[in-house]
Amino acid sequence: MFIKFYSPPIRKIGFCFLLLVPLAAICQPPKAADPDKGLKDYYQSFFPMGVAIRPQSVSGPEAALILKHFSSITAENAMKMGPIHPKENEFFWKDADVIADFAQANKLKLRGHTLCWHNQTPNWLFKDDQGKDVTKEVLLKRLKEHITAVVTRYKGKIYAWDVVNEVIDDDDSKYFRESPWYKIAGEEFVEKAFLYAHEADPNALLFYNDYNTESAGKRDRIYKMLKGLLEKKVPIHGVGLQAHWSIFSPTEDELRQSIEKFSSLGLQLQFTELDISVYQSEHSRRDRRADESDVLTPEMEAKQIEQYKMAFKLFREYKDKITGVTFWNVSDKSTWLDNFPVRGRKNYPLLFDQNYNPKKAYWEVVRF
Ligand code: GLA
Repeated sequence: MFIKFYSPPIRKIGFCFLLLVPLAAICQPPKAADPDKGLKDYYQSFFPMGVAIRPQSVSGPEAALILKHFSSITAENAMKMGPIHPKENEFFWKDADVIADFAQANKLKLRGHTLCWHNQTPNWLFKDDQGKDVTKEVLLKRLKEHITAVVTRYKGKIYAWDVVNEVIDDDDSKYFRESPWYKIAGEEFVEKAFLYAHEADPNALLFYNDYNTESAGKRDRIYKMLKGLLEKKVPIHGVGLQAHWSIFSPTEDELRQSIEKFSSLGLQLQFTELDISVYQSEHSRRDRRADESDVLTPEMEAKQIEQYKMAFKLFREYKDKITGVTFWNVSDKSTWLDNFPVRGRKNYPLLFDQNYNPKKAYWEVVRF
């Protein structure tokens, strides 16, 4: 349709020249409708545009979409502790290497995700031969060995690492999450993880990464922890705000407060796992109720467009503080939210639809 309109026959071009200036402008394609431009091109002077991918994404239609729209990638799962280090003396590099090679071959930036987390983490880390909890000393030694091996392998290829993921509890009456890391090693494992990562690659940018960063209580507690790390001169350069959002939250004001508060620490900000669910936020896994529809309604779509517009308006406004925005998954064809928190409920959280086409929300994000 655009081609027909924007490639008028010669006699129509002549006619256009006769028209006055305002009307002549209509002959130009609107900025947002250039079919050759990708998301990354519209945002070239703002920040790199990233996406979390699987090893299967490096060929076929998904690869084409990634290369057109994104300038940065993250491994969705392949570099997490469990997948990459399943046993004490065994690493599984294949999937992570596929993704790192794809980044190198196509000159994409590569974010590393994630060196220390309580989920998708192998149990051997925390247990001795008898199945008892290891000591703090042993746990930190294992953490160091893990981080050194992984960071060294991708040194010079990964420009930024999510070093520690999600250590702050969701409950405002608590501080640290009661994970095996915390129970065995106390708060200290966080600073150690940053030190080990910095030793292995002094040039990599190191991030703390978490979700619900727009909830006032959790925002304050994450801020407190980060401030403590900076006061101790721990090598940390940025905070990753995951941005697993919904069409109902956060509000513009909540998001603005988070950007202001975290950037006041002098840390760079990245939105590391952006998606906007069309349902209310929930955090506990459950089955789908019999009466629960998962059809995308026009109301959901309209709300999602508004939420994406709001988020990118603020991202652009704060471009001096923000050094990256990464989507969590490529298109609505398949996303982690299709099974979480509600098993078997389809979700539509991204800017590309199930056929890899840009959604209406996409055009609103690039129209500015
Ligand atoms: C968290 C993690 C990600 C991913 C998402 C869900 O946000 O940081 O690695 O597991 O949950 O996919």
